[in-house]
Amino acid sequence: MYSPKTLGDVVFHDAETKELVLKHAKPNNFRNLLLYGPPGTGKTTVANLIATTIYPPQPTQLELLKINGSMNRSIDDVRKNIEPKCRVNVLRPPHLFIVIINEAERMTTEAQDALRGVMDDCNDVKFILTTNYLEKIEKPIQSRCQKVVMYPADEQTWEKPVRNLLKSWGIDWKDELPKCVMQYAGQDNRQLIEELEDWAEDVKEELAQINVIEMPSKSKKKGK
Ligand SMILES: Nc1ncnc2c1ncn2[C@@H]1O[C@H](COP(=O)(O)OP(=O)(O)O)[C@@H](O)[C@H]1O
Ligand SMILES: [Mg+2]
Repeated sequence: MYSPKTLGDVVFHDAETKELVLKHAKPNNFRNLLLYGPPGTGKTTVANLIATTIYPPQPTQLELLKINGSMNRSIDDVRKNIEPKCRVNVLRPPHLFIVIINEAERMTTEAQDALRGVMDDCNDVKFILTTNYLEKIEKPIQSRCQKVVMYPADEQTWEKPVRNLLKSWGIDWKDELPKCVMQYAGQDNRQLIEELEDWAEDVKEELAQINVIEMPSKSKKKGK
């Protein structure tokens, strides 16, 4: 499935949000981030891209820890899987270590309390949390993060990126945008992309069939 390769390729619902994200994708900006909003708006994608924008992938360095809140729900998980790595990284370069916690709301209150302690002690660690439910993130964690809300982009915002995407898939589409764009714009970016890919496959198949039908007549002409 297509996924944006850079933050510039991400379709944000508004320009302010994009600006805010870009501002925080800089190595000298240590503020923790909390990305929240409905499913399929690009929160996990953006969290990963912020990390790779700050630190382009270098396999020899351990700079990024990805945690899933639903599999690290307990205080023990925080103590075992998050805290030691953060503390080690305080003591040695690289000076900025990034921890991404997806589905952070799945962590228990106690686990979130422990995480708050780690956040306070490890200033050199940048945390990027994502969640669909802001209200399930403890207030002290919220207070330690720059909050960024991500909504699905509307039809107008998707127009240009959709045409660019189609072009990159070999379809130069001048007509009205396909129905799936209208249907999922403003609802769910993930479904919009999935449906657009299916639609593009069908269009390409149709185009291929037209070419196959045209070929014999071309070769006939050559034969003449
Ligand atoms: N804002 C966006 N811009 C471009 N593609 C998006 C965006 N949001 C979601 N997608 C598409 O949906 C997929 C899943 O997005 P994801 O980051 O997992 O969403 P979330 O974490 O908000 O549920 C991405 O890989 C991409 O294909
Ligand atoms: Mg996600």
